[in-house]
Amino acid sequence: MEGKSLGDAGSEVVIEERLVGEELSLLGFCDGRNVRVMPPAQDHKRLLENDAGPNTGGMGAIALSGPEALAQVRALADRFLLGACRGLAEEGAPFVGTLYAGLIMTKEGPKALEYNCRFGDPETQALLPLLESDLGEVMLACVQGRLDEYPLRWKQGACATVVLASEGYARDSGPDKPRAVADYGAGDDSYVFHGATRTSPSGDIEAVGGRLLSVSAWADSLPAASRAAYARLALIDLPRSRYRRDIGKGRSIAAGFASSSAAPSGSPPGKTSSAGSYAAAGVDIEAGEKAVELMTAAVRSTYGPAVLAGIGSFGGMYDASGLAGMEEPVLVASTDGVGTKVKLASRFGSFSTIGMDIVNHCVDDILVQGARPLFFLDYIASPKLDPAMVAAAVEGMSKACRESGCALIGGETAEMPGVYFPGEFDLAGAIVGVVEKSRRLPAEDVRAGDLLVGFASSGLHTNGFSLARSIFSDEDYQSCSDILGKPLHRALLEPHRSYLPLLSPVLEKEPGLIKALAHITGGGFEGNVPRILPGGLDALIHVDTWPMPALFKLIMEKGRVPGAEMYRVFNMGIGMVAVIAPENLGRLVSLVNEKSYLIGELAQGKGAVILDGLPDRAPKASPKGGSAR
Ligand code: GLY
Repeated sequence: MEGKSLGDAGSEVVIEERLVGEELSLLGFCDGRNVRVMPPAQDHKRLLENDAGPNTGGMGAIALSGPEALAQVRALADRFLLGACRGLAEEGAPFVGTLYAGLIMTKEGPKALEYNCRFGDPETQALLPLLESDLGEVMLACVQGRLDEYPLRWKQGACATVVLASEGYARDSGPDKPRAVADYGAGDDSYVFHGATRTSPSGDIEAVGGRLLSVSAWADSLPAASRAAYARLALIDLPRSRYRRDIGKGRSIAAGFASSSAAPSGSPPGKTSSAGSYAAAGVDIEAGEKAVELMTAAVRSTYGPAVLAGIGSFGGMYDASGLAGMEEPVLVASTDGVGTKVKLASRFGSFSTIGMDIVNHCVDDILVQGARPLFFLDYIASPKLDPAMVAAAVEGMSKACRESGCALIGGETAEMPGVYFPGEFDLAGAIVGVVEKSRRLPAEDVRAGDLLVGFASSGLHTNGFSLARSIFSDEDYQSCSDILGKPLHRALLEPHRSYLPLLSPVLEKEPGLIKALAHITGGGFEGNVPRILPGGLDALIHVDTWPMPALFKLIMEKGRVPGAEMYRVFNMGIGMVAVIAPENLGRLVSLVNEKSYLIGELAQGKGAVILDGLPDRAPKASPKGGSAR
């Protein structure tokens, strides 16, 4: 074997930088992709007060919880924990559990001294009493990869943990012979955690080792928590034991934050920005300019003669004189987002498709009021501006705008470090369209006996992603391709369909034929069809009249989602529903250039949607559809 053998041990001296500053234990729950940081904690390693004496396994700990402390550790977690979590995931070895970075808050900035894949001792005894959420639920969210959605809650305040050790600790490993712990009281603001103790055959608790037990108490402030911990400790009757008397009394984590500069350790020389500058806060103006350059051509491709001012101007300007030919033009406006589909898009780098999603979603929102789009404005927010990502998203938006004859006349790209996790982003948009007043939808003649015709969706569109993501594991993303005919992530990220090309010819050529349209978006049929029902009518929808697409079957089967829930959350294969008079069914079918489904009818009732034929389990074979053509 080449290189050094064990015999070389000692033949080399490693010189490491001595790190001076407060210690900080930075712990975070990790679900393989997301990190949720715990409040900052601090171990007290030395045996004696004022950090004198030999090193031990830990003689006490403190943890601080409150908005300020959590904001501080969130920024640290982005640097010290999230990178490891994402890096492992990218290498195909996602880590699920607790990550723990031992930091020293030096004057030059925080530096990592040690790194563990576990909780810390005794930090855990100070951290978990502050956890207001159920630890079991947190762990389940980690295992199921949905930690980002879990409402993790911490008590406000502080916790102090004092370790009670045998007299001879850390010199001796424990007492010569077991000694009974006579009493350790009870308290509702404190816990006693056992360490080197055991229950004797007679049922007594006996001290058998070095660090015997620890007392953790919590309160609104650290001094109050410390007082409560020592008060509880005073109740414990154990001769020949020792503990430190200064836990939570002198040193503080807050002092560590204050004394450690904001400059990240390891910043390349010359890149470290002066405190207070935009770049120091994580905002990169050059990247912003580059993003504008990359997206300009795509945006311009959506302009027609009506666009008087667009990219680069304070406000977009749209010449409305083109509407003068209309009798009574009514402007229709809507704003929307794409929900947690952005999570998948960022994970799989699918920015162009998510750009199409937001435009088409908005187009459909105003189409159901009979409007054709005029112009659209977008909003993209991310913690760190990635010009290529923004350009791809804008390129997708531009493509969808062109297909709908809509101008992309403005947008905002916001760089917001600390608000979103690195690598993530959010996307929203606003649209303005126009319709003749007399052709607004829903029309007033919607009545009992009218038919409901459904048009196919292209997938989940922009709804139900929180549920869908919680059902699929990393493995499924690799293995479900056979069922879907494409990788799972591609099926999920399939862009939202725009129904404008399909339905605007009908609305133009035969006004009045379509009486109403419902976009099946968040809330499914029950959340959307009532928006177009006049009072006193029910919508009866027979869910076995169209085939359930494979993606929905997969979600239902894998997540064991009840049928009623599926139809409440997802579009289930129908993204748009038209209301027509029965005598116009044949005409509609001949005008639209694709397969549509007669899915139900309107009847006298109370404004409810009644879903009939809800399946208990995902159907195996496609049911025979009540296809309208
Ligand atoms: N508190 C130090 C450790 O758990 O490693």
